[in-house]
Amino acid sequence: MKQKPKWKTISLSVIGFLVAFQFYQPARNVYDGQVEGSDFIQVYNPPKAVNQILEKSCYNCHSNNTKYEWFDYIQPGRMFVESHITNGKQDLNFSEWSNYYRGKQERLLQSIVTQVEKNEMPLLSYLWLHPEARLTKDEKQALINWIKDKK
Ligand code: HEC
Repeated sequence: MKQKPKWKTISLSVIGFLVAFQFYQPARNVYDGQVEGSDFIQVYNPPKAVNQILEKSCYNCHSNNTKYEWFDYIQPGRMFVESHITNGKQDLNFSEWSNYYRGKQERLLQSIVTQVEKNEMPLLSYLWLHPEARLTKDEKQALINWIKDKK
């Protein structure tokens, strides 16, 4: 006789696993809520519109201070959020801007333009849950123009 799948046991194990998973909460990316002197915005003092774009769409992954939403704490999402922050900061950390040597700053400024033009940033998977980070055409242009003008 063929054994029937034990759906009840299977679903209970899945639920149990998800509940246990919630206890895994990696360290949060919050420095002390202060803007550091080395911060990109402190260094360049861009117009307010540009600040807002960077803060709402980029700083959560590319700075030392993430503004978490309640659902960012729910696993397995939490794991992805934290790995995006780690990888994002490794490539570009706006909080550490003035500590980068000049060549690196120039390469990164160019890279920001390319990433935004090609819609690679903010990451698509992030936008599903954080639609407020989506940039309008005008916002993208404002950011790109400001970077191009300041060179
Ligand atoms: C959800 C997190 C997240 C957000 C939000 C985000 N990024 Fe990223 N960013 C990453 C990750 C992760 C990488 C590393 C490369 C990859 O995985 O694609 C990256 C890479 C980059 C790079 C490449 C750096 C290099 O070395 O050339 C640039 C530039 C960049 N991001 C700019 C931005 C800008 C500008 C914004 C806002 C408009 C933004 N990112 C928003 C996570 C994010």
